[in-house]
Amino acid sequence: MKIKACLFDLDGVVVDTARYHYLAWKKIADDLGFSFSEHDNERLKGVSRMESLDILLEIGKIKIDIKTKEELAATKNSLYVSYIQKMTPDEILPGVIRFLDELHNNGILIALGSASKNAMSILDKINITQKFDAVIDGTKVSKAKPDPEVFLKGAIELGIYPHDCLVFEDAQAGIDAARNGGMHCIGIGQSENLKNAEFVIPGFAKMTLDQLKSWYS
Ligand code: BG6
Ligand code: MG
Repeated sequence: MKIKACLFDLDGVVVDTARYHYLAWKKIADDLGFSFSEHDNERLKGVSRMESLDILLEIGKIKIDIKTKEELAATKNSLYVSYIQKMTPDEILPGVIRFLDELHNNGILIALGSASKNAMSILDKINITQKFDAVIDGTKVSKAKPDPEVFLKGAIELGIYPHDCLVFEDAQAGIDAARNGGMHCIGIGQSENLKNAEFVIPGFAKMTLDQLKSWYS
């Protein structure tokens, strides 16, 4: 098989924190007096905190100064952090641990590639840090997805060429980042939200190495 490393997004791929991000942004929108739907939220997935706020404010047609923006981003993050404080390993999405172990046992390297500055704290809460050979998160990158920086740094840390890497992503920005980096990519979720993924799966419950081999040999 040509795949030598798998890189996983975190929010919405390993855990359902995409839901917590949505709830926290929705509270900000409610307080500002406009509605923010799950459909709107697709645009924020994979995008950095401040860029997410810019998109949110554009949806609400609201213009504010930078200081107020920083306060809103901090308020959103406090709310989000309060949700993730309560996380436990039970919240790891079905099949993830089994699939990570199957990859590891077959010599495939594993990295995390997340835009989140809270990634390390989530990995710690769900007790999964040791499953990753490299972790690149929002504290280590300067360019947000769809820029490929987060995944390219992961590939460099693993010592694997981008064309031998496969990214798992639930966000359009993340799929674009993987493809912009010359990597293979599988979307997690529904294909109408995930253009340019090579394959789309609903989650890892039925994902196996044999399936990967049949797609990428
Ligand atoms: C990504 C999420 O993983 O991280 C985005 O998909 C989020 O929704 C981004 O905005 C940044 O996260 P954080 O935790 O640094 O605000
Ligand atoms: Mg995600």
